[in-house]
Amino acid sequence: MEKELELLFTTATEKINAATTTAELAALQLEYLGKKSILNELLKKMKDISHEERLTVGKRANVIKTTLTELCKAKKSELENVMAMAMFEQEKIDLSLPGYNLTLATKHPLNQVIDEISQLFQELGYDIVFGTEVEDDEYNFQRLNLPIGHPARDMQDTFYITKNTLLRTHCTNMTARAISQMKRKDEIVAMISTGNTYRRDDDDATHSHQFMQVDGFLIAPHTSFANLKWTIQYFCQRMFGENTKIRLRPSFFPFTEPSVEVDVTCVNCHGQGCSICKQTGWIEIMGAGMINPLVYQACGQDPDLTGFAFGIGIERIAMIKYGIDDIRRFYTNDVRFLEQFKKFD
Ligand code: DAH
Repeated sequence: MEKELELLFTTATEKINAATTTAELAALQLEYLGKKSILNELLKKMKDISHEERLTVGKRANVIKTTLTELCKAKKSELENVMAMAMFEQEKIDLSLPGYNLTLATKHPLNQVIDEISQLFQELGYDIVFGTEVEDDEYNFQRLNLPIGHPARDMQDTFYITKNTLLRTHCTNMTARAISQMKRKDEIVAMISTGNTYRRDDDDATHSHQFMQVDGFLIAPHTSFANLKWTIQYFCQRMFGENTKIRLRPSFFPFTEPSVEVDVTCVNCHGQGCSICKQTGWIEIMGAGMINPLVYQACGQDPDLTGFAFGIGIERIAMIKYGIDDIRRFYTNDVRFLEQFKKFD
């Protein structure tokens, strides 16, 4: 029996040492040390041997059991180590590989222009607001001296949502709201409102049913047309260069009186005449004027207030500044077009 025991020990030791996976090892452990193991089967035969032999066989069997258990434990941790190393090898990260090329987006050219204009007027002390795109007829028209049925409403073909709610046709709606909120006659208010505006226009190279504006106004005691002229001149020189000249032509807007249309010397030919300015040397860029006393009245204020207002089309400024031929390019979001504005961002 002792011989059988030693044979079992040697084979088990050899097999355990030769195991290459933890699963294989677990099977061997079960085979040699489990409840129904070969060792236990052998020990059942103990009852047939002499008392002395039983003592030595018993002792030896115990030693074998502990030795094999220890061996399995050591082998297990050895195999686990090998497996972990293999996994690390497989998942190794090569830090010297080049990274992915992340393309950063560019600020949209219209936002670049808005930022530039906002910055400029902020420096002059103007507040900046964005306001509501869904507006009441009252603030978009009525409080701006455009009562229901007024023929000048036809200048701004409107998307109505309900009878009294519409998509604002200009950012002047925020001017009506701000004037309506004035508390004192000697209050000084200077504000720029910017954002999307909408009109029922057919889209073509110069028209878009959705477009952007910057609308500004200043109300302060003793404000005169000279203040408006200085502001426009300053704005145009900052936007288009120091040598830019302005020209004011009489015009009509229901919310201003007198009203003007503002031209700047062509940014392309500087007044010489070219295809962009249709050989006139001038390009029209905004409407402006002294706020009509009827607007103060419609907004619940004293008609003696004095102030000026102006409205600028952002797409038009961007088209002039960057030499863009079609307004639709701003809204089709062709990356090849947008990428070109990285250098100005
Ligand atoms: N709201 C006008 C438009 O969209 C533009 C405009 C003209 C705004 C004169 C003004 C202004 O504030 O004074 O056509």
